[in-house]
Amino acid sequence: MAQTLNDHDNHRRIGISFTEHIAESQHRLSPAARGELTSLLLHLMIAAKIISRETRKAALVDVLGLTGRTNIQGELVQKLDEYADDIIIRNLRFTGHLCAMASEEHEDIIPIPERYAIGNYTLTFDPLDGSSNIDADVSIGTIFSIQRRISDGATGTLQDILQRGKNQVCAGYIIYGPGTIMVYTTGHGVHGFTLDPSVGEFLLSHPDIRTPDEGRIYSVNEGNYYRWDEPTRALIDALKSDRNYRGQSYSARYIGSLVADFHRNLLYGGIFLYPADSKSPSGKLRLLPEANPLAFVIEHAGGLATTGTQRILDIEPRRLHHRVPLIIGSRKDVEYAESHYRGRVLDNAGG
Ligand code: AHG
Ligand code: MN
Ligand code: MN
Repeated sequence: MAQTLNDHDNHRRIGISFTEHIAESQHRLSPAARGELTSLLLHLMIAAKIISRETRKAALVDVLGLTGRTNIQGELVQKLDEYADDIIIRNLRFTGHLCAMASEEHEDIIPIPERYAIGNYTLTFDPLDGSSNIDADVSIGTIFSIQRRISDGATGTLQDILQRGKNQVCAGYIIYGPGTIMVYTTGHGVHGFTLDPSVGEFLLSHPDIRTPDEGRIYSVNEGNYYRWDEPTRALIDALKSDRNYRGQSYSARYIGSLVADFHRNLLYGGIFLYPADSKSPSGKLRLLPEANPLAFVIEHAGGLATTGTQRILDIEPRRLHHRVPLIIGSRKDVEYAESHYRGRVLDNAGG
């Protein structure tokens, strides 16, 4: 006999499309909403599908490789970075749901052209994260953060973008790996979807993701070891030995694509670190398009994100390309890491 669907749990049904899931969630959580955020996310998923298709066929055509220009961060821009950036802007700017956008690839905020309506949200994104890995066919991804507009002029302003991470209304990422996976949260559970290319839809594959309280993996670029401060070195030394709160050594896993390293640790448990070092005294990763959205996801999955001394989601962004040290992952492992920066190392993190 066909199984009767429980309406309340419908949004948790494996295989449900993202379109249906988001509509169900909106109906359940904010029945009065006009569907702006839903529509915004659906347009973002169209962009993600196009980027996914292009990353897959990139090896066959001349899209891979450097454009020869440097972006505002002083890094060489890969062609696919530029392409992904363009696809997201084009697919979102006309929707009427955004008042401004900001991308890792642009020095200033991206205004909505005058011919389009202005909406109530902002979108901040890293169009292609891990782009130095593209030519080696390693997983890369898009990271996104959505906030509600706070200014009330004719168009959105920098102030709308420079909000603390705890104000995010939605955040997530898409990974272009062996499969294309999208993970998002609006603050009501973290849900993962896998793109089924045969139907062209993201289908629910990972409902209600909870990250383990402690993991066995640490992820860091250890080539920076001699540029780290003492607490960071002591922490990594402890994780590699059995002289840590768990009394067992951790395994090292580091892809070099934040989004892929984060996703693995979200599912398996563990800790990712990009601490400050003498070459990057404020850290390397960007608060707005990278740290904030992943911090929002990990907190809603039961984990933590910190600079070592401050919760990521509490940081007041000082500028668009504000960088921060990032320590993110399983709750007990992050608490153990923080204890090194406080100068009182825990021998039983989190109890
Ligand atoms: P992006 O490709 O968007 O510039 O980001 C690269 C970032 C991030 O994905 C990764 O965690 C980190 O750079 C790796 O840096 P290192 O090569 O210094 O380890
Ligand atoms: Mn990035
Ligand atoms: Mn990038």
